[in-house]
Parts: sequence; C-alpha cells; structure tokens
Amino acid sequence: MDSLDDAGVYKLTDELAIIQTIDFFTPIVDDPYMFGQIAAANALSDIYTMGGKPLTAMNIVCFPIASLDISILKDILRGGIDKMREAKVTLVGGHSIDDTELKYGLSVTGTVHPKQLVTNSGAKAGDKLILTKPLGTGIINTAVKGGVVEEQTVTKITKCMATLNDKASELMQEVGVHACTDITGFGFLGHTVQLAQNSQVGINVDIASVPFFPEAGEFAKQGFCPGGLHRNREFYSPYVKIASEVPTHIEDVLFDPQTSGGLLICLEPRKAELLLDRLREAGVEEAAIIGEAVSEPRGVVTAK
Ligand code: CO
Ligand code: CO
Repeated sequence: MDSLDDAGVYKLTDELAIIQTIDFFTPIVDDPYMFGQIAAANALSDIYTMGGKPLTAMNIVCFPIASLDISILKDILRGGIDKMREAKVTLVGGHSIDDTELKYGLSVTGTVHPKQLVTNSGAKAGDKLILTKPLGTGIINTAVKGGVVEEQTVTKITKCMATLNDKASELMQEVGVHACTDITGFGFLGHTVQLAQNSQVGINVDIASVPFFPEAGEFAKQGFCPGGLHRNREFYSPYVKIASEVPTHIEDVLFDPQTSGGLLICLEPRKAELLLDRLREAGVEEAAIIGEAVSEPRGVVTAK
C-alpha cells in the first residue's frame, strides 16, 4: 500500500501470481454504451500496467432505479461486456445496488509470472520513458459539461479513453522493461512523481515531446479545469520543478487527471526505440519518448 502500486499482487506458486484491482466511477461521457467501455478499459488497465493478463471480472453497479430508465443500465453493461470480450476476459459475476448516483466499474483478476511482474519502483538512472496515450481528457471532459466542445473532439477523446492498454502491455513484456505505471487520477506529473519516488530516481521530462490533445490546452486557457487538477497541483508541486517559461495552460495539461490514460514505461535507452517502433506498428500511434530517469535529484520530476 505504501508504494501506491497499481494493483494488489499475491504469489500463489513460484510460477504464478494473481493481480487484483477494482475501479468504478460516475459517468464521464453522455453515451451510456461508451461509458461502459471506458469504465471497463480503465479497470483493466492496472492489470496491464503490472504486465499481467486479465482473466476474470465482476461488475460493480450503483443505479438510481427510481429516476433513470433501465435501458441506460443495459447499454452501460453492454459496453462493459464488449470491452471485456475484446480483452478476452470472462465476466464471472457482480453486484448492484440502488443508489442516488449512477456508478459503474469492475473488479478484475489477472495473472503474471512473479519474475515478470512490472511495478512502479524499478526505474533506473539512464532509463528512457515512453508515454502511450495523449493527455488532456480531464480538461476536455470538463469543457464538454460546459457545452463548448465539438462533436468530433468528443468522439476522439471517447475513443482514446475506451482504448485498452493491452497491446502496450504485451509489447513492453516482449521487449523487457524496468518499471511501468498508468496515468489516471493523479495526472501525468502526479504518477511520474510516484514513479520517481518509488524508484529512488529523478525524472527529467521534455515537455515538447509529451503527447496531448491540443484542444486541452485551449480549454485550459479558457479555465475549464477539473477540481482534481488543482488538487494534483497542490499535492505534487513540492516534488515538481517546471521551467518558468512553461505557460500555465501546458502545466494544467500535465496535472490533468486522466480516465483510462496511457502507460508510462521505463526501460533501457537501447530498447526504447525498438519498443516505440513496435508500439506504432501495433497501432499505438501517439506513443512517444518523453523523458529519462536520472540519479539526482531523487524523487523529483523536472519538466522543461
Ligand atoms: Co494505475
Ligand atoms: Co487504479
């Protein structure tokens, strides 16, 4: 628990460990079917992050039965099941309750060989860092609530959030990596600080190479920042050095809480280009090398 690892791991034998994780939340998109897909992709991500293979899942449903049409719930569950099918995961059960606010998610169990477990504490000085999805979905979702986002932008970020991290995970295991985490609620900088602190390294980020949705920068300029973004900045700022010339709206994007964000992978420099090529071949087109681990200052992220 201390290291804020992405999921819980229990060794069954010398060859087999189980990974368990749970995640659920209130709708972040209007389309119930897409919300189901995103919630499932998000819950599955922590298994992929640790280099595991998800096997089974259980639905968690909180639904206001008196105020919402049951067809909405059916669409959410259909989205979740379709995503599980894509991930070759078997739905083995679940639990639902009547609640004032709609929430959906999954608890997921996966497996990994104990020696192949990937954590957020193995980064070494000299490692390169690869980020596999663009940032900015939290800011854009906030702007969606303000009614100012074009339909094609909504479609683009919805698709991004619904995309599984399965390919990135498989490829990182093939190539061999030192550490990984996924970018979710604490934002890119929050999760990068956690990685730096758990690995006892510093991390230098080259902001110009960090992939993000340009719309996120624009909406941040207009003030569409989710509450979590400010909390992330407050909490992680003591461990982050951002060059003074970096504009505030770019800083906002780096602190923006993500739903079902990408993997942040640390690996030897000679392997980084190889993994990047393979990711792009596999359709993970936005993946980019965004920085490196350094020996000092430990536990600090320097972004410029
Ligand atoms: Co995670
Ligand atoms: Co999680």
